[in-house]
Amino acid sequence: MSRAQSYKEGEAAASQQAESNTGSKVRSERVALLLLSALLAAAAVVIYRLSFAHFQTNKNLQMLKDENEAMRKNLTMLKDENEAMRKNLTEKLSELSSCTSEQLIRPKPAEAKTTESCPTCELDWDLNGGKCYYFSTNYLTWDQSRSVCKGQGADLVQINSEEEQRFLDNKVGRKMTYFLDWFWIGLTDSKEAGRWLWVDDSPLNTSLSFWYKNEPNNLTGENPAGEHCASMGAQGGATDLKSWFDRSCNVAQRRICEKAAKTG
Ligand SMILES: *[C@@H]1O[C@H](CO)[C@@H](O)[C@H](O)[C@H]1NC(C)=O
Ligand SMILES: *[C@@H]1O[C@H](CO)[C@@H](O)[C@H](O)[C@H]1NC(C)=O
Ligand SMILES: *[C@@H]1O[C@H](CO)[C@@H](O)[C@H](O)[C@H]1NC(C)=O
Ligand SMILES: *[C@@H]1O[C@H](CO)[C@@H](O)[C@H](O)[C@H]1NC(C)=O
Repeated sequence: MSRAQSYKEGEAAASQQAESNTGSKVRSERVALLLLSALLAAAAVVIYRLSFAHFQTNKNLQMLKDENEAMRKNLTMLKDENEAMRKNLTEKLSELSSCTSEQLIRPKPAEAKTTESCPTCELDWDLNGGKCYYFSTNYLTWDQSRSVCKGQGADLVQINSEEEQRFLDNKVGRKMTYFLDWFWIGLTDSKEAGRWLWVDDSPLNTSLSFWYKNEPNNLTGENPAGEHCASMGAQGGATDLKSWFDRSCNVAQRRICEKAAKTG
């Protein structure tokens, strides 16, 4: 082998060596690239899964929020219902205690065989302070109203105390369906203008009168003869108990009849 030849061979071997070096470099770069791609794909899957879970959580949260809102509304409704029932119960209790207090005032004698029961009213009549009251749903003139009350063994109501006015005002205030939906009471000045008398002819006690402000005003709009019969009512109840209005006796209105409660 000449020197030149051996040199050439040496050169070729070196070049071959370099080529094989480059080949392995390319291979490892490919592997790295593949690995990176796999990692990226895995990351994408994880991100997708996470964002899907996040979306689901948000949806669940919204559902829970809606449910909570609905329950809050139900609670408010239940509270209102509870309040209404409490009021009903209070009313019933006061009726009951008026019964017990009357029994306490007149305790039955030990020797008495007959059982003295609480004062009672017929169906559709309300008991208060030993009296029964009827609040009509139909509309009649003052005279017609009084006749119907009398036909039931009663008369148009006579208001003799602040407590009685409070009871009636509260009842009527809840029964009225519009502003002028007043109830006739047993008070009139048709015998002598300006002299208000109860149905038993007793004069109205001015310290026990509950005229609404500026009443009686004797307007002549509904009837040129003026207003000579009294009615009462303030929707929701009058805060100051003043809920009486004079009105033409010929107008048709609802009525309050009153009679003594039955005992024994
Ligand atoms: C609210 O009340 C209604 C009926 O009163 C019921 O059908 C509904 O399921 C209640 N909602 C919740 C969230 O309790
Ligand atoms: C309260 O009583 C009135 C009549 O006395 C009745 O119409 C109403 O339903 C009652 N309310 C409740 C919540 O019981
Ligand atoms: C009410 O008005 C009528 C008709 O104008 C009248 O006759 C009557 O005297 C008046 N009553 C009072 C108390 O002013
Ligand atoms: C009028 O009512 C007041 C308050 O209840 C009472 O003190 C007074 O005795 C009554 N007057 C008459 C004449 O009945």
